[in-house]
Amino acid sequence: MESLIAKIQQEAASANYVERKKLLDTLRDLQYSIEAPEEAMQRVIHMNLHFASIRTALDLNLFNDIIDSAEPLTVDHLAAKHSADPLLLVRILRYLASLGVIKETGRDTFTSTPYTYNLAKPEIQAGLYVYFDMCNQTFAEMPRYLKETGYKNPTSFTDGIFQRAYKTDLHTFAWVHGDPVRSAHFNHFMKAQRGSQAKCFGFYPFDEESKGWPSEKPLFVDVGGGAGYQTAAFKEQFPNLPGRVVLQDLPEPVEDAKSVVPEDVERMVHNFFGPQPIKGAKYYYLRMILHDHTDENSIKILSNLVPAMDKDSLILLDEMVLPSEHVDEASTQMDLTMMTFHSSMERSEEQWAKLAAAVGLKIKKVVMYAPGFNLGVVACGL
Ligand SMILES: C[S@@+](CC[C@H](N)C(=O)[O-])C[C@H]1O[C@@H](n2cnc3c(N)ncnc32)[C@H](O)[C@@H]1O
Repeated sequence: MESLIAKIQQEAASANYVERKKLLDTLRDLQYSIEAPEEAMQRVIHMNLHFASIRTALDLNLFNDIIDSAEPLTVDHLAAKHSADPLLLVRILRYLASLGVIKETGRDTFTSTPYTYNLAKPEIQAGLYVYFDMCNQTFAEMPRYLKETGYKNPTSFTDGIFQRAYKTDLHTFAWVHGDPVRSAHFNHFMKAQRGSQAKCFGFYPFDEESKGWPSEKPLFVDVGGGAGYQTAAFKEQFPNLPGRVVLQDLPEPVEDAKSVVPEDVERMVHNFFGPQPIKGAKYYYLRMILHDHTDENSIKILSNLVPAMDKDSLILLDEMVLPSEHVDEASTQMDLTMMTFHSSMERSEEQWAKLAAAVGLKIKKVVMYAPGFNLGVVACGL
């Protein structure tokens, strides 16, 4: 057994992303093939409890306490620090240890595992807040909504799963940005989202395509650019490309971007459901925007860009481009999350081409840049 484990660890250490993912899927299938029916049930019915316990530990900052300490920490120490009941704390901590989130080193004493380190990163914690505090309720609503609506693919952005879950008629982002804590978590989460994956800037030929671009003209407009993490990465990759760089979003993310993007980036509040004010840019870059929107709204967003384009302009959709079969777990879970949150979806190249054609655009090229993740840049022009 020991040598088998060592062999698998060795394989994992030298594997590339695709091989590593295949290994993880194989190990998962192996686990499922050896578990008894009630073990399968126990695993599934406690998925939410696993997350709820992590979420409770986050409120108490326990993961950071544990990784910041050179020595294992006792429950009494943690209970005194956070004015918590030691009995309550030990019940949560021993559950987390049983899941491998932390490690029990002796009676009521705990230290870190690699999982603890991952959960102690601020941008990862922002993702946990977003999913626990915002998405969970929409996941819980999904079966009821689909049953009530006759198992039709949801397409309403005013009466979708999200609106039923939160008893609101607000669009998701109006609801998210309507609360400063939610908005800050969401904007910060965008840093972690796909954070360990390649970015398109090292793959799409920005420098080659924009050779000789006049420096007074807009080069790169990050439409719905959030707190500016992609704009900042673009500037870092291409510090000397000529032309203006503009970040657009709703007021809260544009404010948050102040500390993220360099000073020469123009920050602009702009609602992408209105006409695009920056005319003739080389690139209108939309990362993870249309996956938040139904076809109907995606067409509205694109229609507001088309009049601003000239013959050299391109709309770059930095999105998932799904294969027609064997779609992986990360892509399918994002697709269904988009369904519950926005009545929207992840799309295939054929579906992107249909959207582009609906506003008179053609796909000029598709550059896939993160093997195993289905991420690509779909470049659309006149
Ligand atoms: C999934 S996030 C993507 C953010 C950024 N593009 C990235 O990849 O990190 C979607 C973004 O769209 C913005 N957004 C939503 N509705 C908008 C609107 N009507 N006008 C402009 N931005 C909007 C949100 O504030 C959010 O920052």
